[in-house]
Amino acid sequence: MSTAELTLDLPDEQATDALGSRLSQVILASLKNKQINELETGAGAAIYLRGDLGAGKTALVRALLRAAGVTGRIKSPSYALLESYKVSSLYFYHIDFYRFNDSSEWQDAGFRELFRPDAVVLIEWPEKADGQLPAPDLLIDLSYKDGGRAARIEAQTKRGVAWLTTLSEM
Ligand SMILES: Nc1ncnc2c1ncn2[C@@H]1O[C@H](COP(=O)(O)OP(=O)(O)OP(=O)(O)O)[C@@H](O)[C@H]1O
Ligand SMILES: [Mg+2]
Repeated sequence: MSTAELTLDLPDEQATDALGSRLSQVILASLKNKQINELETGAGAAIYLRGDLGAGKTALVRALLRAAGVTGRIKSPSYALLESYKVSSLYFYHIDFYRFNDSSEWQDAGFRELFRPDAVVLIEWPEKADGQLPAPDLLIDLSYKDGGRAARIEAQTKRGVAWLTTLSEM
């Protein structure tokens, strides 16, 4: 059965790490699978993360990147706006739009060029660049819950639905 939405309890940091690791596995498997890729029109994989300050957006991305094979320091992009990683032939772009307020900034910085088929774009605070971003494969909403966190994951592309279905069966 296909899944377009999934809600998960993340009672502690280990649960956030585990979700990041599962997401990484699903994405890497999918990007190696041409048939699923060809459903889309060559756009890069994109995951957007929403949630209050400290909700765990960076923590989740960090877990995903670690599981994908990033070995060095993984900084929050809150100051630099963008942190880039390359693992074998795949690029990961981690973006934080919290301090972003000028829309021309987006055009000038050429962020659109990051959405390539060999790239995974991970964006915190996507609402700050509202209307200028393509729809993500997955939109993840993190919230505080009982001392831990909850994640609501919504698929917004066909590929996203396939990922979420796999994720829900793991
Ligand atoms: N499931 C969880 N339960 C409890 N604490 C968690 C959980 N997941 C992550 N944390 C902790 O919550 C904090 C999340 O901080 P993080 O920097 O990831 O937030 P953020 O959403 O990126 O915030 P910002 O909007 O400032 O970028 C970290 O201290 C992390 O250890
Ligand atoms: Mg953050």
